[in-house]
Amino acid sequence: RTPIWLDCDTGHDDAFAILLAARSRDVNLLGISTVYGNAPLAKTTYNTRAILKAIGREEIPVYAGASKPLQREAAHAPDIHGASGLDGTQSLPQPTAPARLEDAVDEMHRMLRAEPAGTAWLVAVGALTNVAVLLERHPDIVNYLAGLSVMGGAIGGGFSDAPMGTIHGEGERFGNHTPYAEFNIYCDPEAAHAVFSNPALARKTILIPLDLTHQFIATSEVQMGLLFGQAKAGKAERTMDSVTPVRRLFFEILTFFAKTYSDVFGLKAGPPTHDPLAVAATFRPDLFVYSKQTNDGQDERFSVEVVTEGEHGASDEARGGNSQCGRTIVRSLPQGEFGVTIPRSLD
Ligand code: BDR
Ligand code: CA
Repeated sequence: RTPIWLDCDTGHDDAFAILLAARSRDVNLLGISTVYGNAPLAKTTYNTRAILKAIGREEIPVYAGASKPLQREAAHAPDIHGASGLDGTQSLPQPTAPARLEDAVDEMHRMLRAEPAGTAWLVAVGALTNVAVLLERHPDIVNYLAGLSVMGGAIGGGFSDAPMGTIHGEGERFGNHTPYAEFNIYCDPEAAHAVFSNPALARKTILIPLDLTHQFIATSEVQMGLLFGQAKAGKAERTMDSVTPVRRLFFEILTFFAKTYSDVFGLKAGPPTHDPLAVAATFRPDLFVYSKQTNDGQDERFSVEVVTEGEHGASDEARGGNSQCGRTIVRSLPQGEFGVTIPRSLD
C-alpha cells in the first residue's frame, strides 16, 4: 500500500481526495495537515475532521497547519465552496476526534520519515504554504520522499488537446481565480515558487493542473452513480433504499460544487473534480497519459515558473484585471534535464 500524507484545504473536491486516500485499499493514509484556502483554517480543519468522521476513519490524525501565506494575506473561495468551505449539505456529521496539537509540519516530516525511504508520497491539494515550510525546516525530506503530487496551476495555450471548458477565455488566460492564476498557486505564489524551484524535488514532482482536471468532469451520470452505486446508475432499481448516509453526503457535496461551477464559470456539463486526481496519480499512474521525449522514450519533463509580481488580494482589480500574479509558466525541458512531470490527459 502506498503511504501518503495529504495536505488539504477541505472544500468540496478535497473531500473526494480524502475519501479516495482514506478508503482505498491501495493507500495507507498516514495523516492529514490542513491549510487555509477554500475557507479560513479553522473551517478547513473542521471540515477535514467531519469528513473523516463520516467515512469512519477518525483515527487518522489531523493537524492544523498554516493559517496564512508566507508573505501575504489569505485569499478564500466562498463563491465556489460557500462560507463554510463545504456548503450545501445537511449530512455532515459533527467530528468527535479533536485536531492534534503537535506542529503540522514537524509531524508531516516525522511520519513521512518513519516510512521506508523512497516509498511515501506527499500530496498537496491546497495552497503550498505547509509544503514550503517543510522544505525550509526539514530539507532532508526531499531525498527521502517517493514523490510530491500537487494539484495546482493553469497552463493553457493548448497544453492539452482535450476540451478544457473555457473559464477566462482562450490561450494562456486559463486561470480560475484570476484570468491567469489557478486558486491554489494564487493563494501563496512565494510558497509555490519555493516548491517548484527546488531541483531535487522538481524531478520527483507530479503537477496536476486545471488543464488536466477539466478533463475529469463529474457529469450528471457520475453524480447519479455516486448516489445509487455505479451498478445501479441509470437502471430501474434505483431506489432511495440503496442510498447510504455516506453516498448522500458525497452526492450533496458534489451537486453543490456542480451548481457553483455552473453559476460562476458556466460549466453546465458538471464540475471538474480536481483534488482526487493528485491522490490517484501516486498509486494509479496507469490512469494518466504522459507525453514521451522523442528519442529516449522518457516522460517529458517541465520547468514551472511562478509569477510573484502583480496585484494580489481580494480587490476586483486583483481578481479581474491583468495581474499575472500566481500564473504558472510551464516550459518543456530539453531531453536529459529533469524537472516536473505533468500528465497531458487521462486514460
Ligand atoms: C483548487 O482550488 C480549490 O478551490 C480546490 O479545492 C482545488 O484544490 C482548484 O483550483
Ligand atoms: Ca483544494
